[in-house]
Amino acid sequence: MPHLPPTLAPAVRQAPTWTELERLRTTSPMYDAVIDEIDGRRIRVGDDWLIDYASCNYLGLDLDEEVMAAIPGEVRRWGTHPSWSRLLGNPALYPRIEERTAELLGAPDVLVLPTITHIHLSVIPVLAGRGTIMLESQAHKTIYDGTVMARSQGAVTHRFRTGDLDQLADLLRAAPTDAPRLVCVDGVNSMTGNLPDLRRMAELCRSTGALLYVDDAHGFGVVGERCPTESSPYGRRGNAIVAHLGESYDGIVLVGGFSKAYSSLLAFLALPTGLKNHLKVAAAPYLYSGPSPVASLATVLAGLDVNERRGDTLRAHLHALTERVLAHLRTLRVYTPNRTGTPIIELPLAPGADLAVTSRILWRRGIYVTLAAYPLVPLDQVGIRVQLTAAHTVAQVDHLNKVISELVAEGQLRVATE
Ligand SMILES: Cc1ncc(COP(=O)(O)O)c(C=O)c1O
Repeated sequence: MPHLPPTLAPAVRQAPTWTELERLRTTSPMYDAVIDEIDGRRIRVGDDWLIDYASCNYLGLDLDEEVMAAIPGEVRRWGTHPSWSRLLGNPALYPRIEERTAELLGAPDVLVLPTITHIHLSVIPVLAGRGTIMLESQAHKTIYDGTVMARSQGAVTHRFRTGDLDQLADLLRAAPTDAPRLVCVDGVNSMTGNLPDLRRMAELCRSTGALLYVDDAHGFGVVGERCPTESSPYGRRGNAIVAHLGESYDGIVLVGGFSKAYSSLLAFLALPTGLKNHLKVAAAPYLYSGPSPVASLATVLAGLDVNERRGDTLRAHLHALTERVLAHLRTLRVYTPNRTGTPIIELPLAPGADLAVTSRILWRRGIYVTLAAYPLVPLDQVGIRVQLTAAHTVAQVDHLNKVISELVAEGQLRVATE
């Protein structure tokens, strides 16, 4: 137990859930690290240089010269942070971003707010009202938090097992039809990298009058519309899961963010214009939150330009790097839940292995990853998560593969059973 003032100690003692995270925070170099320097996709912590597989900058735009060069001009024009809430005043960058994002997605309209977390907490309660929410069991924690907020405002929530559409159908049949029904799911799942059966879910929702709310934080910028000349199986344009699966936006509200593939602090909802206008007065962040920094608005617009011209080349490189790791895992017979080839590769630990020990082995070998610890993931999914980005090199990925082989030799990773 850390040393705490007496008034705080009881609150912390009552939260045994966090014991394991606190242990990792104090025993693993990969929690709560201070990064001293970055050089491409390498980071320096103290005297140690590591290859960073923990960032979600999938397109590598955080390091892109063109994107970085877009910032100073806009900051000179607008200042660093004209801090009106959006209802009070919108720098003209906002409508440009919303129009361009709607065009990219092929969506009727787009509303942007600072983060996806803001969106879930404020928009899910508005959409659910005093109705029923059906929440996918593996959906991201920030969606869950949005449903808790909705519950506090009169909604009823139920969970359904990921992929179990029969259970979802039963819940939808049982939900009162005189109030909103909202189904909340992840798009590309943030842990497994897998995609939901969006087509069947959308059909189910449309046939029962429910609204499907999809968080595609990890798909936007990576997966996109399919076409015979696409540069990789991710598809073209990175315009997210609805376009990737050839679905329409009828009955679907898509949420996505620029903070992963586009390396900017901004998030969006793709939605009908009538709902957008309603959220302008009903969603708290539009009225009360400060805006995204001008640097972020500038990098979103520059990122959209880069995406248009070079995005498919970046995605082809990203796909090739990801496939290089997945092929190596298949050769070694290492288990990963990733079945779709997206650049999120979770590697659960072997039974009995300790995440703090695994992280120290990785650190010594110059590899930095996301630690998927309990209770951030269920106990049987504790492991490491590797994210590839277009800014990694083949040599870096080959080093990662070598280190994965070493972890296997030391019995650290779970083996595939089929
Ligand atoms: C699926 C998913 N949704 C939402 C978020 C939070 O996004 P933001 O940082 O924009 O609040 C994350 C971030 O990790 C995520 O993975």
